[in-house]
Amino acid sequence: MKTKLIFFTIILIVLGLGISEVTAISDAETAANDILNNNNSDSDILVVYFSRTGENYNVGNVEVGNTAMVASYIKEYLKCDSFEIVPIDKYPDNYDECTKVASKEQEDNARPKITDKIDNFDSYNTIFVGYPIWWGDLPMIMYTFLEEI
Ligand SMILES: Cc1cc2nc3c(=O)[nH]c(=O)nc-3n(C[C@H](O)[C@H](O)[C@H](O)COP(=O)(O)O)c2cc1C
Repeated sequence: MKTKLIFFTIILIVLGLGISEVTAISDAETAANDILNNNNSDSDILVVYFSRTGENYNVGNVEVGNTAMVASYIKEYLKCDSFEIVPIDKYPDNYDECTKVASKEQEDNARPKITDKIDNFDSYNTIFVGYPIWWGDLPMIMYTFLEEI
């Protein structure tokens, strides 16, 4: 079966006066509407995401990351399955520490290990893939994921 991957990414735009706005960049909403308009009620849709908890830029500690939140909206809207990409080595809760780890991973072209795999990948024909932008790119763990599927 041909599987369609739809990418969505989340960046945090910090405006002056410390106001934050979350912007989803992608055609994920359009794709979601297309699926709904076609009455696609099969459970052949999956939302895969990587997201981080802990200290985030300018907002303090978060228990649910931005991408996780958007993924949960998609899941609820489409009534589909979800899969979280969880690193074996958790990223530091401290924001600055995390940026250092992420920068080193990018420099090393690392492939951080993921705890789990999607068992029944072939049964999905539409997959939403969500991740934050790290240092202007995908977090390296996303390359691990994309190379493993
Ligand atoms: C290690 C790291 C690097 C980041 N690099 C960027 C960046 O290059 N550009 C940007 O706009 N935001 C950057 N951010 C901010 C995240 O993209 C943003 O906070 C995102 O919403 C976090 O998503 P999450 O809560 O799902 O992990 C970075 C955050 C971290 C932790």
